[in-house]
Amino acid sequence: MIAKPDSKTQGFSTRAIHAGQEPEPATGAVNVPIYASSTYVQEEIGKHKGYEYSRVSNPTRDRLETNLAALEGGIAAKVFASGMAAINAVATMLKSGDHVVAGHNLYGGTPRLFNQVLANFGLSFTYVDTSNVKNVEKALQKNTRLVFLETPTNPLMELCDVHAISDVSHRHGAEVVVDNTFMSPYFQRPLELGADMVIHSTTKFLNGHSDGLGGVVVCTKAEQVEKLAFLQKAAGAIMSPFECWLILRGVKTLAVRMEQHDRNGRKVAEYLARHKKVQKVFYPGLPDHPQHKLAKKQMTGFGAMISFETGSLANANKMLRKVRVCSLAESLGGVETLISHPATMTHAAVGPEGRRKIGITDGMVRISVGIEDVDDILADLEQALAAI
Ligand SMILES: Cc1ncc(COP(=O)(O)O)c(C=O)c1O
Repeated sequence: MIAKPDSKTQGFSTRAIHAGQEPEPATGAVNVPIYASSTYVQEEIGKHKGYEYSRVSNPTRDRLETNLAALEGGIAAKVFASGMAAINAVATMLKSGDHVVAGHNLYGGTPRLFNQVLANFGLSFTYVDTSNVKNVEKALQKNTRLVFLETPTNPLMELCDVHAISDVSHRHGAEVVVDNTFMSPYFQRPLELGADMVIHSTTKFLNGHSDGLGGVVVCTKAEQVEKLAFLQKAAGAIMSPFECWLILRGVKTLAVRMEQHDRNGRKVAEYLARHKKVQKVFYPGLPDHPQHKLAKKQMTGFGAMISFETGSLANANKMLRKVRVCSLAESLGGVETLISHPATMTHAAVGPEGRRKIGITDGMVRISVGIEDVDDILADLEQALAAI
């Protein structure tokens, strides 16, 4: 008998292609079917094949959850309708009176959810520069239950030391959650560094094709899984079977996509760093990035997310109007190069004062380098930057 593949000893690409993606037993279909069924027939009261109603569980969703848990090295994963729905689910595992320490430079939608929605339900939030572990330690209170991190941050590309922050937080009884959207599990696995849960907007690199929204929480403890499964059932913000299938399809090529994103990302960052009209480049792969050493320690690649300073809103607009291969659009992590303006797009909700405090300027441009031929991306940037 052939031994069942062990998802712990297999390589990353093998897990991406096979974990949860076993052929469908009834027909042998190599791809996981889209189980487009809201309900499931029961033989008698309480006797069924494990599925009753698709808000609670769905076979396509189960397969994706198995797959993503295997990629991040968690015990289980729960998927939601968007990255924000996943973040909301984690926050609603808390209760009124609980406190959260969060990075001061998160994706703009995260503090919007925390400050404008969840603060009304008795949760409190302290934002600190998580690039220094001491700031996290100082902010921890008796009632701190969660430390919420992004590394690298969006769009300033600051890193935080997940291992050191996890140590400090655990000593104070708080769990650490890392939004790993920018790196994907291919380049960074926060659970191996000591984090307790990982979140992704699967909308980005995991799906990889800019054709579906989703979010995932990967867990390390049975009680986290239980709470999140209950929240899927109780609050209902689950991922649809079709979106699950898109991600199951997308992750099969995650490793090769990430390798190409990384190769192109490094070349674009080096090009921008040499360009006379670019005042500053934010990319952990550049040797002058303040946390380049930490990047090499906790990530296995530098990825494709780069921010750079054009000097003013007018300059940013002049170049962004000219791009042709790069698409001026929100989002990131697709095969196509996406270029965006954080101050008016991802971080508009943070407000001018909030952006000034953390250093997001009106001249800052963010690029999610795709997997096109890099010479075409560089030529496009060259002609667009000539407009400044
Ligand atoms: C780092 C990060 N986390 C979370 C989100 C939210 O994800 P979604 O748009 O899928 O709700 C985003 C969206 O851009 C993001 O960039």
